[in-house]
Amino acid sequence: MALPDLITEIPGPRSRALAARLRRYESRNVTFLADDWPIFWERAEGVNVWDSDGNRFLDLTAAFGVSSLGHTAPDLRDALTGQAQVLMHAMGDVHPTELKAELCARLSAITFERWGAGQGKVILGNSGFEAIEAALKTSLLRTGKRGVLAFSGGYHGLGFGALTATGLPFFREPFRAQLADFAAFAPYPCEREQIEAVLREREIGCVLVEPVQGRGGCVVPPRDFLPMLREVCDSHGILLVLDEVYTGFNRTGALFACEHSGVVPDLICLGKALTGGFPLSACVGRAAVMDAWPLSSGEALHTSTFLGNPLGCAMALASIERHGRPEIAQLVRERGARLAAALRLAGEVRGMGLMLGLESTTERAIGAVKRALRDGVLLLADGPESDVLSFSPPFGVADLEIDFVAGKLAAWLS
Ligand SMILES: Cc1ncc(COP(=O)(O)O)c(C=O)c1O
Repeated sequence: MALPDLITEIPGPRSRALAARLRRYESRNVTFLADDWPIFWERAEGVNVWDSDGNRFLDLTAAFGVSSLGHTAPDLRDALTGQAQVLMHAMGDVHPTELKAELCARLSAITFERWGAGQGKVILGNSGFEAIEAALKTSLLRTGKRGVLAFSGGYHGLGFGALTATGLPFFREPFRAQLADFAAFAPYPCEREQIEAVLREREIGCVLVEPVQGRGGCVVPPRDFLPMLREVCDSHGILLVLDEVYTGFNRTGALFACEHSGVVPDLICLGKALTGGFPLSACVGRAAVMDAWPLSSGEALHTSTFLGNPLGCAMALASIERHGRPEIAQLVRERGARLAAALRLAGEVRGMGLMLGLESTTERAIGAVKRALRDGVLLLADGPESDVLSFSPPFGVADLEIDFVAGKLAAWLS
């Protein structure tokens, strides 16, 4: 763990050369390329990232919330490299591995079984959006109803199914012509009457919601919001699907964010920190809900080539082992309180645990992200207007690093 150490101007010559190469060969909408952006990552450890020019950065993003246990966490790395020696790929839905069986059992144990709600059953996927799409299909099979009630500002990923339920127009508009119309949107958060009004108008099979909106700008709903949704779902016989792709695995100071309000969902979607660095996601559901899927007759209805990849399963098992220790949640609450106190010196702070946002304006937040990079700190802006400076560091972020950032914030936001 260490503060930034910059030996070239940012971006350095190597990063600029690599940007020129990417500009030539990558589709132009993917990586944002400008004179002052990006740097190219070469290696990382703990809270630090080194770029191709040898500069050391302080990462306050945990790379989209994935590297919660720190970059290149030794136990996750050992799980990956150990597995890579013996088997890198199997036949996920045909001839799988012991690791897949073990991971499904562990996912059940840490969710529904831990919540006293019986056994859970799992559909594994690769990206977070695939876990959402598995949940949407499960909901249709279970309820027979095609409608999904989602929320404005919600982000569930960009595959067509998940995008249909994503409440950020920026991502939807260019593809509107190919989007289905199964989603209805309510404000986030909202009152029970607003949900009931949608349910009167539309035939809804599930409510899809983030317990704390991440990309939507680190929005924490009132404490009674999830319990209210649970009650509404129960009274209408529809499913509550929690998208904990971002909030899961201690990010908010509890293993899962729904635990803050004691709400047990019907389906929960997980990704990001599930493995700490391998593209693997999971949709976990109450066994009775998941059993809406017909028994496989030899051809799975929902699968993919890399489903249950053994490298990802090995990392997920190591990650779950660490995340299950109560001291991790405790660390997040303590580090989160420390970081929030530091951020409050610069403005209004929202969020929970180590999922924090500093309210700003679009211009200031984007300016701050760029200035921070020049000072060796990796940050991102969230919110529908990119007006929230977001902080989701690895859990091991130290006082020294928090103080360093606190000392710079005013200048970054000016
Ligand atoms: C809450 C939430 N759901 C789903 C996703 C989509 O995950 P992925 O980008 O892995 O498809 C994200 C990604 O940021 C997310 O934050």
